[in-house]
Amino acid sequence: MYIGDHLPLPTYIASPNRYDKMQFRRCGESGIRLPLISLGLWHNFGDSADFNKARIILRTAFNNGVTHFDLANNYGPPFGSAEENFGRIFKKDFKNYRNELIISTKAGWDMWNGPYGNFGSRKYLIASCDDSLQRMGLDYVDIFYHHRPDPDTPLEETMGALDHLVRQGKALYVGISQYSAEDTAKASKILKKLGTPCLIHQPRYNMFDRWVENGLLNILAKEGIGSIAFSPLEQGILTDKYLKGIPKGSRADTDISYLNSEQITPEVLNKVKKLNAIAKTRGQSLAQMAIVWLLRKPEITTVLVGVSRAEQLLNNIEALDKLTFTNQELSEIESILN
Ligand SMILES: NC(=O)c1ccc[n+]([C@@H]2O[C@H](COP(=O)([O-])OP(=O)(O)OC[C@H]3O[C@@H](n4cnc5c(N)ncnc54)[C@H](OP(=O)(O)O)[C@@H]3O)[C@@H](O)[C@H]2O)c1
Repeated sequence: MYIGDHLPLPTYIASPNRYDKMQFRRCGESGIRLPLISLGLWHNFGDSADFNKARIILRTAFNNGVTHFDLANNYGPPFGSAEENFGRIFKKDFKNYRNELIISTKAGWDMWNGPYGNFGSRKYLIASCDDSLQRMGLDYVDIFYHHRPDPDTPLEETMGALDHLVRQGKALYVGISQYSAEDTAKASKILKKLGTPCLIHQPRYNMFDRWVENGLLNILAKEGIGSIAFSPLEQGILTDKYLKGIPKGSRADTDISYLNSEQITPEVLNKVKKLNAIAKTRGQSLAQMAIVWLLRKPEITTVLVGVSRAEQLLNNIEALDKLTFTNQELSEIESILN
């Protein structure tokens, strides 16, 4: 039984002003523009989450121009439950807005038992996409990703599976996630030859994890691929929430997350404190500054946030009120990060 599902919420009618505040950026050289803030459903949408709270987060997102929701086959827990819950909310609230939404899902991490439920085979990707569509109650997804590189499957097979899904009409566009610069260049060439160019790359990118700056962003620009930065707030570390300890119910406080309290060291907190001071002088929260710091790069199409409450999402969207940095702010930030 899903907590809260029985509680009635009024029928959803999307805000008529939903496109007034949001800004959109073209995704690589494609025809698609994505909102500068996108919403990820990795956490807070599984079976242990509060269904109505999840529903309110999605309503708040769409009411404010967040047209892109990002999922994966294994989001939950348990695996598949975020897609199932999203499907139930979609049916109740968003069916009439399907053409205004970019919904993505992925396969690449462990999903089901045996040799065909993991990594990058054609068998896994195509079966998993079918399952995802069924769980979400959709005819197609807008973007289907290979979730992580597979060292053992030929890239031609994995990219061929992505191309096949587009030809079957099950995905409109394809993407890759966590691929190195070198593998991205190879994957892009194969996909272009197949006639299904790679729309987007989904890398981990935030102030504390800057690997994309060493080559990937250049490849994306060269290949005309957009990008969506995941874990932009380092799972909540790049906010002011851990400055006074670990709050109850925060991600570092829960067992079902990949963030544990040992990662929040005094050295990390010292940097967060200094960054927080700069954010304050800009009139922003640290979360807001961390988001716009990523958007300073034209190769970043959109920033993919996760939220545990609708208020956090609203706070993140307000970041767009101040997108620019002075050179002095950028060099102060640089000296803290280095
Ligand atoms: N492709 C991949 O391999 C991959 C991997 C990971 C994630 N992703 C995608 O990226 C999405 C986002 O990742 P993420 O959840 O790690 O992102 P994140 O935005 O770095 O972290 C989200 C957490 O930050 C906190 N937070 C967010 N906004 C806040 C605010 N304004 N003030 C205070 N705290 C705030 C919340 O923590 P509390 O819960 O403590 O409130 C929230 O749960 C995922 O949902 C998924 O779609 C993709």
